[in-house]
Amino acid sequence: MSDSKIYPVSDELAATAHINNEKYLAMYEQSINDPDTFWGEEGKRLDWFKPYTKVKNTSFDPHNVDIRWFEDGTLNASYNCLDRHLATRGDQVAIIWEGDDPSESENITYRDLHERVCKFANALKSRGVEKGDVVTLYMPMIPEAAVAMLACTRIGAVHSIVFGGFSPEALAARIEGANSKVVVTSNYSLRAGKSVPLKLNVDKALEHEAAKACVDSVIVVKRVEQDVAWNDSVDVWYEDLVANASADCPAEEMEAEAPMFILYTSGSTGAPKGLKHTTGGYMVYAAMTHEYAFDYKDGDIYWCTADVGWVTGHSYIVYGPLANGATSLMFEGVPSYPDNSRFGRVIEKHKVNQFYTAPTAIRALMQQGEDVLGDSDLSSLRILGSVGEPINPEAWEWYYRIIGQNRCPIVDTWWQTETGGMMILPLPGATAAKPGAASRPFFGVQPALLDADGNELEGATDGNLVIKDSWPGQSRSIWGDHERFIQTYFTTYKGYYTTGDGARRDEDDYYWITGRVDDVINVSGHRMGTAEVESALVAHPAVAEAAVVGYPHEVKGQGIYVYVTLQAGFEQSDELLKELRMHVRSEIGPIASPDLIQFAPGMPKTRSGKIMRRILRKIAEDDFGALGDTSTLADPSVVDDLIEHRMNRK
Ligand code: PRX
Repeated sequence: MSDSKIYPVSDELAATAHINNEKYLAMYEQSINDPDTFWGEEGKRLDWFKPYTKVKNTSFDPHNVDIRWFEDGTLNASYNCLDRHLATRGDQVAIIWEGDDPSESENITYRDLHERVCKFANALKSRGVEKGDVVTLYMPMIPEAAVAMLACTRIGAVHSIVFGGFSPEALAARIEGANSKVVVTSNYSLRAGKSVPLKLNVDKALEHEAAKACVDSVIVVKRVEQDVAWNDSVDVWYEDLVANASADCPAEEMEAEAPMFILYTSGSTGAPKGLKHTTGGYMVYAAMTHEYAFDYKDGDIYWCTADVGWVTGHSYIVYGPLANGATSLMFEGVPSYPDNSRFGRVIEKHKVNQFYTAPTAIRALMQQGEDVLGDSDLSSLRILGSVGEPINPEAWEWYYRIIGQNRCPIVDTWWQTETGGMMILPLPGATAAKPGAASRPFFGVQPALLDADGNELEGATDGNLVIKDSWPGQSRSIWGDHERFIQTYFTTYKGYYTTGDGARRDEDDYYWITGRVDDVINVSGHRMGTAEVESALVAHPAVAEAAVVGYPHEVKGQGIYVYVTLQAGFEQSDELLKELRMHVRSEIGPIASPDLIQFAPGMPKTRSGKIMRRILRKIAEDDFGALGDTSTLADPSVVDDLIEHRMNRK
């Protein structure tokens, strides 16, 4: 891509940013050649109760995947986000909360936040939560979500956040999988002026015997004045608990490798897996990447639009920014409410300096035209970020021009739930940007491209993206199933961490992420296993067989395209279509709602019965001219029918 446009680093940023190109090159080299010294120094950005003497002790050997960083040190994540700032920035705003309703916002100082966290930490203890217990958070984007996270880590409890858009079924599976005894939720959440019954979803989840058996407390924040069903033996109001709680709660001393949180994410096979992140390495990595990626400086107002239900919210709304003593904006609402100028209004209202969002949000705004943000004053903006999916050059240019006003660098950050923090990104003072390229690796990250046989490819080429050695933010395991962790990430290519993404490296050694190479799709920056959607569909009595693939979608990046074969005795109809859609929503959640459903009398299968997804993908992409070899199909005529009745016609 030598013809790709290049946006050089401005002289100003090269001179003032934490990291310029010279520094980047020198630090990168040290991070690879002498990781112990490099990370030994970087680790000092945190306060440790007991300093570490060992830095890196990691192995990607599939017989013994074992990842430890700073292993003999002790610390506390909540302490690092709160207590250590009290003396110097107690009165500084830690969290600016902007409600769904633009008239609602709140500034919470470090001192306030510390007090709220201590009280809720004591409240959790009063409900029997102990070090090592798992607490499930199923919450809207309200300050109590951050408070609950920090309260858990304060007492050494492990939080497992389930995105509020997941269904009761999905929530039940995650409660059970983590054997969680407490759930924190709110009576309702607010979204574009409408209330969503979160607590009712928890009640439904607890109708599952296995989930019910784990949980002995449901703590409910009163987000809106509206009644909810109540079970006195389990339910307790958040407000009542904290009203009586002491504000004195010393932070628990945790080993660096003590589990800090679990976060479920989808893969190509099986049920979602709970990735385990640990304390020391994760916190060092989250804090450091936040500071360097956004060139965060004291006094800056930083806004990441993600939800705390995803890893981006963990690392870049709560832990990274607060560890750095930053002011982090937390937004409850949606970009289109009360109207499409909302992002601009919030940037103007709170004088946001760094803005971090997803390509899907950019594309949605882009469709509304260049004046979508109205007369919002965007002059406070300095750096823009992108995350969650590849950003197409057109969306990149629009973001740069309309939101960045032709002056703010865009940091396109490639990373994953598994990586804990950003992995490949153009540091704003160091790396010239090419629209659509994630560009260069962060410190300590050694990407490589492999061919299908696992050979490392050199030079400008395409390949399977792997990482050659450990970095501190890396997930350590899958909760309760280390063997699955090894199988999923370390056996396809021995000695490497397999990302599941494909990438291209250009002649400047920039990496361009091309998307997943497995059966995972990315819908509006939300990662979804096609197998999960398929198993939800086949659980419906009308469905004999289902195959799910992604297809290019203008706003969502990828849409969900479903092929279903009906059981004998069921007729295709509009009602059934609606019902199937509703069924998937109730099994997984609205984010998994199929965009297009095609009734297929048969699937294209090999003679051994394997569905040829390649063909289904091509038809879904409306690109059936290039189906390739179909001669191995058991019944090639199936394909003609699928093409004739395809749902996506350009
Ligand atoms: O395919 C990549 C895509 O999102 C996947 C990770 O999803 P998740 O674990 O939910 O984490 C999302 C937030 C970090 C990756 O395997 N992805 C994420 N960021 C980018 C991206 N693809 C291209 N460019 C990105 N900047």
